[in-house]
Amino acid sequence: MVADNGHARDRLTIALPKGRLLPPTQALLAELGYETTVVGNGTRKLIVPDPVALVRYLLVKPADVPTYVQYGAADVGFVGQDVLRESKSDVLEPLNLGYGRCRLVLAGKPEQRDLNLRLASHLRVASKYPNLTREHFQQRGLSVEVIPLQGSVELAPLVGLADLLVDIVETGGTLRANGLVELQQIAHFEAALIVNRASQWIKMEQIHELVERVRAVVEKNRVVVA
Ligand code: PRP
Repeated sequence: MVADNGHARDRLTIALPKGRLLPPTQALLAELGYETTVVGNGTRKLIVPDPVALVRYLLVKPADVPTYVQYGAADVGFVGQDVLRESKSDVLEPLNLGYGRCRLVLAGKPEQRDLNLRLASHLRVASKYPNLTREHFQQRGLSVEVIPLQGSVELAPLVGLADLLVDIVETGGTLRANGLVELQQIAHFEAALIVNRASQWIKMEQIHELVERVRAVVEKNRVVVA
């Protein structure tokens, strides 16, 4: 259990992802009446109590959200399913959030559109998602060398580091800007709410209330968009 000046039993700890999922996550929580602007005002504080609701926020790298939740340092987290699936973390995932939609794709140069992966040998595939990439090729009985990278993966085939890449596509702008094309779709993802297994029992009421309130907002927003 995380120390919290005696309030740990009551106060929910919520891991929020820095980066592109933060604004829509803040907007969602604001609809619940939470005061999440406290994490977006250029603060360097990493543990930020909500001045209104009985919760506190941990501001962490997106790829670390599942780790904080799995180990109970956070009770719940907001995370992209891409990061979650890659992490293989053991957490509960009660709710998809309807934003942060993206696709995991295999991409390469336009001339690779006709590439027969079964005939090609010694292919190198760069990715920020080495586990998902290995799984994708293994499930198809294909042997490739996966080159793990932390970012700017589109660069890899352009400079000969890899033949292909596996990455997330949202608008397609990054692939286009670098003269690359999609070759295969691998998976669809969106943002999800995740919950620590022990917290689900220890803080059952608060978590149930949070999940159901988030679910109501997500469903309302789905109706508005449709
Ligand atoms: C992500 C992803 C792609 C890009 C896709 O990278 O890895 O590079 O966004 O988005 P698009 O289809 O809308 O162009 P991110 O911006 O997180 O930066 P990174 O490459 O440094 O990880």
